[in-house]
Amino acid sequence: MDSILVTGNGPLNGDIPIAGAKNACLTLMPATLLSDEPLTLTNAPRLSDIKTMTALLQSLGAEVQSLQGGQVLAMSSHDLNNLHADYDIVRKMRASILVLGPMLARAGQAVVSLPGGCAIGARPVDLHLKALEAMGAELELRDGYVHAKAPSGLKGAVVDFPFASVGATENALMAATLAKGTTVIKNAAREPEIVDLAECLRAMGAQIEGEGTSQITIQGVDRLGGATHRVVTDRIELGTYMLAPAICGGEVTCLGGKLSLVEAYVERLDAAGISVEETEKGLKVARRGDRVQAVDVVTEPFPGFPTDLQAQMMALLCTAEGTSNLEERIFENRFMHAPELIRMGADIEVQGGMARVRGVERLKGAPVMATDLRASVSLILAGLAAEGETVVSRVYHLDRGYEHVVRKLSAVGAQIERIKGE
Ligand code: EPZ
Repeated sequence: MDSILVTGNGPLNGDIPIAGAKNACLTLMPATLLSDEPLTLTNAPRLSDIKTMTALLQSLGAEVQSLQGGQVLAMSSHDLNNLHADYDIVRKMRASILVLGPMLARAGQAVVSLPGGCAIGARPVDLHLKALEAMGAELELRDGYVHAKAPSGLKGAVVDFPFASVGATENALMAATLAKGTTVIKNAAREPEIVDLAECLRAMGAQIEGEGTSQITIQGVDRLGGATHRVVTDRIELGTYMLAPAICGGEVTCLGGKLSLVEAYVERLDAAGISVEETEKGLKVARRGDRVQAVDVVTEPFPGFPTDLQAQMMALLCTAEGTSNLEERIFENRFMHAPELIRMGADIEVQGGMARVRGVERLKGAPVMATDLRASVSLILAGLAAEGETVVSRVYHLDRGYEHVVRKLSAVGAQIERIKGE
């Protein structure tokens, strides 16, 4: 297994290009199952999760061609000949459950393995299933699989979520595009990735209103056509790299960044003493003084502070002046980066969903272990400003969500390299 060696090396300066959003691409790709015409995605990120979704769609009989070094995905599910999504692939990535709604809507049946949990939590899919049942699907859980059928097709329904689940909103939205009648999704998730999905589905002929608000209305249509769609910028990669100059000093522009993608996040950065300016190139970020100020953070569904940036923010606050309180309200076990940061000299106390971070002057490099996707990059950020060398192991977590980390950070002056494992 590869690892990454980072050496604290002073201020960072220059431009970092931000890729297309992993979490948009992972829901846009299953949308190809809704139509027998080609769907092409541009600005796709080059990530292992995208490869996993590619393998899953191909196992169902869809065609997925990765062009221009992976930045273009040319897909077609004209020959959808297998409606069974196997555990072997699904267990690698939870987002696999997003093939369920489209398959059911297009073919009237689907057998999809339950995804199982992951490091950050149990992550059930009960809300996905309830939404599809409300639309007339008959579901049976057997041998770890969801056996779903809708022999006379799905029908429009009111789907009222107890909380704004991103994945459940995406599954319901895709299924509703081909349901007979009107579907209203209440307490829908409002993430930019959902807006991006709705724009792509509309380009394919779907009739959707209200995406980005907590109520989405869909008029079902008989069939969807093809489209070409550009994947929205990755707001989590954007927020991650914005912290490089915040932690090390210097000035970095994250190319393609837009304030609208990270408003709540930028409000917290501003309070911590980080200046963010939107230019025609992207978001220009610099630390105002030579040390950030402690701030409190609560993770919430969009437009609140994103849970996917909590680990990165914790790395920043480890060297802040004062004490910060971070409350993780979305996942039940998303502080696994804390013990690793403590190995680097951070002063962090975790109790349930709360983490108290008392800032220290400077962290010290140490060997640390990545435990999940976002924790892995928070350790790299910590290593950028730490004294001495940090070696982050198990970087396969990193490869799931960040393309070319070493290249992007080296380009702004970071001392970072990837060490090939056995
Ligand atoms: C999406 O996961 C993202 N993944 C996650 O990003 C992100 O952290 C999360 O949304 C929240 O923003 C993708 O888009 C592929 P949820 P998802 O349904 O859809 C519970 C990353 O790092 N829940 O909004 O699974 C669930 O357990 C990943 O890129 C149910 O109880 O998130 C969690 O506690 C990590 N029942 C909470 O809701 C359900 O049926 C939020 O889950 C569904 C979810």
